Amino acid sequence: MSTVYDIGVLPGDGIGSEVVNEALKVLTAIEQIYGFSTKRETMPYGAEHFLKTGEMMPDVAFERARDLHAIVFGAVGDPRIEVGKLEFAIIAGLRHKLDLFVNLRPIKLYHESLCPLKGKLPEHIDMMFCRENTEDAYVGMYGATKKGTPDEISMQQMLYTRRGTERIIRYAFELAKARGPKPGQDKAKVMLVDKANALRSQELWTRTFTEVKVEYPDIDTDHAYIDAACMFMVQNPERFDVAVTTNLFGDIITDLGAELVGGIGIAASGNIHPGQVSMFEGIHGSAPLLAGKDSASPLATILAVALMLDHIGQNEAKLELDACVADLLQTGKIRSLRTGEHKCSELGDMVRDELLARAVRTK
Ligand code: IPM
Ligand code: MN
Repeated sequence: MSTVYDIGVLPGDGIGSEVVNEALKVLTAIEQIYGFSTKRETMPYGAEHFLKTGEMMPDVAFERARDLHAIVFGAVGDPRIEVGKLEFAIIAGLRHKLDLFVNLRPIKLYHESLCPLKGKLPEHIDMMFCRENTEDAYVGMYGATKKGTPDEISMQQMLYTRRGTERIIRYAFELAKARGPKPGQDKAKVMLVDKANALRSQELWTRTFTEVKVEYPDIDTDHAYIDAACMFMVQNPERFDVAVTTNLFGDIITDLGAELVGGIGIAASGNIHPGQVSMFEGIHGSAPLLAGKDSASPLATILAVALMLDHIGQNEAKLELDACVADLLQTGKIRSLRTGEHKCSELGDMVRDELLARAVRTK
């Protein structure tokens, strides 16, 4: 019997269903080539579901999710609904309730034409951000008083635990160990990105990083404050290999990173708890203005499926899918990721066809 994986499919809002359809089209081809299968179940949550039923994402859905192998996620967010409501209930809900403590965000340049920096080639930009995904300003501790008056006070708590800090730092070191040194380097490297000079609560990160690194003598370490790290990303992206950072800084710097490699149309992420159900999505939002036009790039979600394949133990399929997207970009078959250049469904077809053609060639 071939292996069957239970996969939740949560298209969400806006362009979500279009990009997820293309990613699933690609997944079907992968299954044919690698001889496993998926049992897919739709999770209908998002704006439409909320407007129809008044329900965001119920507890039973999170319970069900725990028994799945992985979830493919489109995007949520809708102009008809108060900012942050869907995001908090669904994205943050999944991250927090399923304890998906790693937000893994590869920043990898597939072709020089996708990079806005002068003279940068694929070998210059290849880094992995490990964004802590369950703590920091995202824990939802905020409030306001004297609202609407000149004396108004508004606050939001940034919270770090030793356990939460240590597990993401350890994950980063293990990832660096697994990746090995970058070409031309003696050792793999982990960079800590924080703002401990101003946010003294992040001294916990400094101390934990210092303690954990002792266990990894074969890994180089580096440190940058978040403001300087943003500068280095543009000035000297070669400096980055694996980087580990807090939730909010990781959110911001990975959008900058995405822009270095072609924009949010190609930037994938995995919300991961090793060994448990995990959720995979593009880092982009629901782009309501592009919805229904078959014009959003599905590559971010397709590459998120690649991360999912790695998570469920189909590493060879992951590498092949990644290589296939790289090939389409490097040979110029995908001309550019600008909106309007290729249709969403066309890009999905191209990746599927390329996978199938390569499989025939290597048989
Ligand atoms: C992301 C998004 C989310 C975040 C939003 C939608 C809450 O920007 O996944 O990067 O801030 O984490
Ligand atoms: Mn973001």
